[in-house]
Amino acid sequence: MSGSGTEHHRNGAHRLGEPLPADLRDSGELLDRRELAGLQLRRLRQTLRHAYTNVEFYRRSFDTAGVSPEDCRTLADLARFPFTTKADLRDNYPFGMFAVPMADVRRVHASSGTTGRPTVVGYTENDLSVWADVVARSIRAAGGRPGHKVHIAYGYGLFTGGLGAHYGAERAGCTVIPASGGMTARQVQIIRDFEPEIIMVTPSYMLTLLDEFERQGIDPRSTSLRIGIFGAEPWTEEMRREIEERLDLHAVDIYGLSEVIGPGVSAECVETKDGLHVWEDHFYPEVVDPFSDENLPDGESGELVFTSLTKEAMPIVRYRTRDLTRLLPGTARPAFRRMEKVTGRSDDMIILRGVNVFPTQIEEIVLRTPAVAPHFQLELTRRGRMDHMSVRVECRPDATPEQREAAAATIAAGVKDGVGVTVAVEIVPPDTLERSLGKLRRVVDARNR
Ligand code: DLL
Repeated sequence: MSGSGTEHHRNGAHRLGEPLPADLRDSGELLDRRELAGLQLRRLRQTLRHAYTNVEFYRRSFDTAGVSPEDCRTLADLARFPFTTKADLRDNYPFGMFAVPMADVRRVHASSGTTGRPTVVGYTENDLSVWADVVARSIRAAGGRPGHKVHIAYGYGLFTGGLGAHYGAERAGCTVIPASGGMTARQVQIIRDFEPEIIMVTPSYMLTLLDEFERQGIDPRSTSLRIGIFGAEPWTEEMRREIEERLDLHAVDIYGLSEVIGPGVSAECVETKDGLHVWEDHFYPEVVDPFSDENLPDGESGELVFTSLTKEAMPIVRYRTRDLTRLLPGTARPAFRRMEKVTGRSDDMIILRGVNVFPTQIEEIVLRTPAVAPHFQLELTRRGRMDHMSVRVECRPDATPEQREAAAATIAAGVKDGVGVTVAVEIVPPDTLERSLGKLRRVVDARNR
């Protein structure tokens, strides 16, 4: 896989679809489903014991629920244990959820959240190594190979995206370009000059970079990039198509959350692009009904819940992610179940005059509409006692007034038919909506202004 960027450009594409060679798989990937289940149960029991013995929060929460770690005799017994929520992490701010002495914690990260105290997470040396392993596995699943250059434009800092991707890419034997977020014009320059094959970035910031390529008069399809590993926010199949077409690369999804480890909890395989394989030897997934809290069988949609299986510094038991998805059988990595692309968080759900609306539903409609750009924003206002939503969409620079009008009508009708609510659609000039520098804020809630 060595050689100049252009050589790789010519040769790289067909190699991407090939199955991962056995010598690039790690020991976890070589397990079959039965071996995996045995390993999971052993690790689960250790985790429950570790959490119960070393974290006061878990001791109290298990005692209150009347369960002890020994009650977990099968994987299904996990359902008897209490959930952990973001509020529990906040209540134990900053280090109350840690299960090892502070001297054994090598790093902390924190997620800001929208309100209140951040949630703080910690890692031992071994945790950092497991994290690098699962991100490396995710990069290989995306088609990344030793010797590839990886441009990392996830933010570095307390956010887990940048540093999580960084050590994973190094572990995968890649050359890291630690660009972090921001300074968009310079990122484009670096991509041109350093010729990375892979980019890791939020899909919304990828759009910002795409616009910058075009602003500088560079055809984005002409760059060295072959693979984009996008995550940290929801994105749709329509967005995948948009990005793949405009950049001529393979766009795959990576998922994770700080509380569970960071990026690399699950990832898509480039050969199938059919949802994200959960790295189940380290993270045990369940899906529950968000209202009744009951476990749902595989195939049914609900809220994703995770239990860590190997974490030392901050084991997490039945963490309510608020992310909505369903579990499906493995394909490209048969031992691991897949999770469907996350359509949104229960927190992002807008209830508009009784109808549930997710920003991703609007994204699908906007991206299917001709003459508009993939940049849109949702604004919620109150008119009298009624909630009202406006969809602001940028038109493409060459759109005629007739095309703009037609686009507004198409989007309004699409939302009415597809989602079941009436919204106002405003087509705004190019370059007027706020651009993403990381995770994009899609919804402006002006209802209480
Ligand atoms: O966003 C970790 C990450 C960094 C994942 C880089 C992938 C790439 P947090 O800041 O703690 O961690 O936010 C976690 O982001 O619960 C989801 O709601 C959302 N999220 C993350 N990845 C995806 C994805 C990182 N691929 C929260 N699709 C999660 C949809 C995602 N939502």
